Amino acid sequence: MCGIVGYFGKRKAAEILVDGLRRLEYRGYDSAGIACLYNGGIEVIKNPGKIRDLRSKVFANPSATITESTLGIGHTRWATHGPPNELNAHPHVDVTGHFALVHNGIIENYKDIRKVLSQKGIECVTDTDSEVLVQLISYLYKDNLEDAVSEALQQVKGTYGIVVITDYEPAKMVVARCGSPIVIGIGRNETLVASDASAIIPHTRDAVYLEDFDMAVITDQGMEMCNVNRSPINREVTAMDWDEGSAEKGDFDHFMLKEMFEQPQAIRNAIRGRLDLEMGTAVLSGLDFSERDAAQINRLLVVGCGTSMHAGMVGEYAVEEMAGVNAEVEQAAEFRYRNPIITPNDLVVAISQSGETADTLAAVREAKQKGALVAGLCNVVGSTIARETGRGVYLHAGPEIGVASTKAFTCQVSVMLMIALKIARTRRMPGHDGSEFARWIQRLPELVEEVLEQNDAIKAVAQKYAQCEHAFFIGRGYLYPAALEGALKLKEISYVHAEGYHAAELKHGPIALLQENTPVVALLNNIPGKEKTLGNAEECKARNAPVIAVVSAGDEGVADGFDDIIVVPDCPPAIATVPTVVALQLLAYHIAAARGCEIDQPRNLAKSVTVE
Ligand code: AGP
Repeated sequence: MCGIVGYFGKRKAAEILVDGLRRLEYRGYDSAGIACLYNGGIEVIKNPGKIRDLRSKVFANPSATITESTLGIGHTRWATHGPPNELNAHPHVDVTGHFALVHNGIIENYKDIRKVLSQKGIECVTDTDSEVLVQLISYLYKDNLEDAVSEALQQVKGTYGIVVITDYEPAKMVVARCGSPIVIGIGRNETLVASDASAIIPHTRDAVYLEDFDMAVITDQGMEMCNVNRSPINREVTAMDWDEGSAEKGDFDHFMLKEMFEQPQAIRNAIRGRLDLEMGTAVLSGLDFSERDAAQINRLLVVGCGTSMHAGMVGEYAVEEMAGVNAEVEQAAEFRYRNPIITPNDLVVAISQSGETADTLAAVREAKQKGALVAGLCNVVGSTIARETGRGVYLHAGPEIGVASTKAFTCQVSVMLMIALKIARTRRMPGHDGSEFARWIQRLPELVEEVLEQNDAIKAVAQKYAQCEHAFFIGRGYLYPAALEGALKLKEISYVHAEGYHAAELKHGPIALLQENTPVVALLNNIPGKEKTLGNAEECKARNAPVIAVVSAGDEGVADGFDDIIVVPDCPPAIATVPTVVALQLLAYHIAAARGCEIDQPRNLAKSVTVE
C-alpha cells in the first residue's frame, strides 16, 4: 500500500527518490515525502497530494541542501491512521531530529508503545502508528543504529517494511521487513531500497528480496544481512526480469489502456512453452507435480481477492467441468478465518497479481499449516506468496501499473485453464479433447486481439452511458465471473455504482432497482445458458432498463430489441470469459475516461493490499 524508496551512493539522492516515488504512484497514495542526510543534519520535505507537487517543493530552491545529499529515504503514504496531511506524511522524524524513518505496514501495539514513550517524556506528534517506531529507535539508540532498530523491532507487533537513517551515522541506512515487501537493488557503487521493484528498475537488475524478520545494514562498505535478533544470514542476489519500458506509459493515455492492449502478448507469454498439443495437456513445471500427483488431487481450492478471485472462479468451473474434480473458490480472508476443512490431497491455489495481498498470504499460511499442497499463481517474481508457496506458475504478464487489474486477470484465467487441462488429462478427458482445448487456449491472444479491434465501437457505446450512476452486469456459467469482473472494473475506475449478478439472481431483489437510466450489460454469448439469460435481459427491458447485449460473432440477432450491442468472438464456454472481460474492461475504461476520472489511480484504492 505505502511505497518506500531509499538511496545510498555517489549520485544525488533527491532526484532518484522522487523519481522512484513517481514509479510507485500506481500503488495508490495520498501524501509523500523524502528525508536526506546532508551537512551533519536531516532535511525533510513532505506534502499531501501528488508527487509532482512534492517534486516542485523539493526542487523549488535549486540551492537547497536536500538536493545535494547522496543518502536519503522517500515514501508514498496510503492513510490508515490519521488523515492524509503533511504532519502524518512520512518520513517521520524523532523528537531530537536525529533520526528519520519510512514505514509500510501497521504497528498494531502502537498505542502501548506511545504510552511507554510518553511516560519517558517523549510525546508523539502525529496520528500515525509509524511514528512510535522512530521515537523508540531514537530512545534506544546508544552508538549503533542497527542495534537500536533490532531492539525496537523486538517490541513491535504488526507488520513493517522500514528504512531508517540517522545523522549520527551518516554513511548508514538500516532496512528491515516483516510482512511488507522490501527489495534491495545492488548497483555499481550504490544501493537502492524499495517496496517494489518498479521503483528501482532503471538503476539496477540485481536484487535481494528480504524475507520476514530480515534486516540489512547498508554502509559505504557494502551490505550486511542479519535477522532482527542480529544473527547473520545470507540472501541470494537475483536478477529482476522486468524491463524499464514496461513501467512507462508510452503513447497511451493511461497505464490501464496500455495494459489492456498488451493482453495478447501477455497471454502469449503466460502460455509460452506450457502447452503440449500432441499429448493434449499442459506442462507446468513450476507446479512441481507429476501426472501421478495430479491424478491424486481430490479437490481444488482457489483463494484470492477481487479480480484474482474472479479468475479463480473460472478455474473452479473448468476443473469441475473438464476434470470432474471437486473445486471451490473462496475469498481469501474468509478462508483464513473460518477454519476450513482441508485434507492432504487438496490442492490450494493462491492467486495474486502482486503476490503480497495480506489476506491471500494468510490463507496460504493457513493451508500450509493444515497440510495441503499449496501453489501460487503470481505475477510479481520473488513476491512473498510466490516464495512462500515454493511451487506455482508465474503469469509473466509484465508489470501491471494500473490499479485496475486487466492483463493479470486474463493471464490468471489462461493459467487456470492450463491447470484444469493438466488435471483433466489425468482423469477421463481423452487426448483429442485435450488437444482441442489446448488449441483454444493457444488462440486466446488472437481472440483478445479481435476484441481490441473493436475499441472504437465499444467507446461509442460507453459514451452513451457515461453519465449513468448505476449499472448492472448479468451472466451465467463462465460468464458469471465475467459479470462480476465487469462490474468491479466499472465501479473502481469510474465510480459508477455497478453490481455483477448471476442472471438468475436479479429477480430475487436487485431488479427492484432497475429504471430507465440504469443500464444492464447482459452477457448473451453463445454458450449454454444463453436462452435463459436472454429471458432475464427481456425482463430488464420490460422494466425500462436499457440493455447492452454482449453477443457472439455470427449470433448478432440475439441483440434484436436491445439498446446496444458489443460483439465478441464465438468460442467454447471455458474460453469465453477472457474475450468477454476484455470487452468489459474497454467499456469501463471509456466510461471512466468520459467522466474525466483518474483512471490509473482511483480514489481510495491501492494496487497491493498489504493490510487486512
Ligand atoms: C482489481 O482491479 C483490484 N484492484 C483488486 O480487486 C485486486 O485484484 C485485489 O486487491 C487482489 O490483488 P492481488 O491480485 O495483487 O492479490
